[in-house]
Amino acid sequence: MSASIVVGTQWGDEGKGKIIDIIASRADVVVRSQGGNNAGHTVVSNGEVYKLHLIPSGILYKNTLCLIGAGVVLDPKDFVGEIESMQSRGISCDNLKVDPRAHVTMPWHIALDGLSEKFRGNADIGTTKRGIGPAYMDKYERSGIRVYDLVHPEVFAEKVRTAGKLKNKIITDVYGGEPIDLEEVIKEYTEYGKVIAKYVDDVSVIVYNANKAGKTIMFEGAQATLLDIDFGTYPYVTSSHPLSAGVCVGTGVGPMMINDIIGVAKAYTTRVGKGPFPTELDDEIGDTIRNKGGEFGTTTGRPRRTGWFDAVIVRHSVRVNGLSRLAINKLDTLSGIGDLKVCVAYEKPDGNKITDFPPTLEELAGCKPIYETLSGFDEDISACRDFESLPASCKAYITRLEELCDCKISMIGNGPDRTQIIER
Ligand code: GDP
Ligand code: IMO
Ligand code: MG
Repeated sequence: MSASIVVGTQWGDEGKGKIIDIIASRADVVVRSQGGNNAGHTVVSNGEVYKLHLIPSGILYKNTLCLIGAGVVLDPKDFVGEIESMQSRGISCDNLKVDPRAHVTMPWHIALDGLSEKFRGNADIGTTKRGIGPAYMDKYERSGIRVYDLVHPEVFAEKVRTAGKLKNKIITDVYGGEPIDLEEVIKEYTEYGKVIAKYVDDVSVIVYNANKAGKTIMFEGAQATLLDIDFGTYPYVTSSHPLSAGVCVGTGVGPMMINDIIGVAKAYTTRVGKGPFPTELDDEIGDTIRNKGGEFGTTTGRPRRTGWFDAVIVRHSVRVNGLSRLAINKLDTLSGIGDLKVCVAYEKPDGNKITDFPPTLEELAGCKPIYETLSGFDEDISACRDFESLPASCKAYITRLEELCDCKISMIGNGPDRTQIIER
């Protein structure tokens, strides 16, 4: 009986998909519990690259049950497209289930995401424009449309007409946008509902029973700690709880089920979208990391901002997630870039030093990273399969990150493929 959570510890794209895929080889069930198709999780197996947005990263294993919990916001068009794309590549989706309670991302959510970002002007968040914020707004306002409604055409048509009427008023009268043809939406989305109907099931019950039956369960976090609506860099965050605790409410299970919480980080830091980034590198080294690491968004293709590893941030993640261990990906990307800097604390504008990540952007403003410099390495480490065979400076870098983050590093990624992992 084992249930583990995999969460992002930075601003997303830490390689959670890869870690889930690796651990899923030993899991019976993989569950997504929050976020939506703003996520982009990459799995590389035998040279084949799979980019997953809503489907859990356990899907490549034929016998793994892949579940989408109540806390996810589901874009039916993308979901159906993703199922078809997997099937066309010979991947079965027969073991996929989605909770009827999950909320549906509707076309007006996508329209309003774009319009409100435009309205914010220079103060925009830099969202993925997938309608995530507006879908969660409706959920918490108690006016959302759920997967149950989507697969019940009579209920669905009525809800689209009621909700859509108000949304069209907001789109046209507040933002001056184009109204959405609601009858067209009913027609198109009812067809998605027909495809999705067979996947609908109570995920909370399935996970509970699987746990009772002694199955191994993995919860796949999307986004990351610094994008959490409460514990991230608000307002430059997403609209869900990517923290470990979010898994319980987003799936409908109790916290006592969980016995392992793995935080995934990159050996450096990246961020896509706007908002503060204390260790950002706006120079040649930053460009080198971006190009070597292929740091372009999986969902939007946007170039990712790059910077040094920030131990203040990862320590914050260790605390708010209760991490039992860390997986550090992309160590291979740092080869050949010279000395490596690690942020160990921040210096506040008044000269004081802080080691805990500040709760608000106002308190973060003007904080400067205090760096420690470690020796770099030039060797190609992508073929290493055990810790001992890594160059001495790599080992020292990992050991120092462990000390600074106050958490054991049990996995080290040294390439995108599922085989490129060093487990300790
Ligand atoms: P996720 O959103 O956390 O699942 O991460 P993404 O898939 O968006 O971004 C991670 C990127 O890094 C993907 O292109 C992965 O294939 C790649 N990747 C993951 N781990 C490693 C690693 O250890 N080394 C290298 N070079 N690439 C990796
Ligand atoms: P994975 O699961 C990186 C970022 C967006 C934006 C902010 C809000 O692949 O790690 P949203 O569309 O959610 O309202 O955008 O959050 N963001 C991500 N950044 N990885 C992700 O997911 C992200 N999901 C959202 O870029 O800054
Ligand atoms: Mg990603």
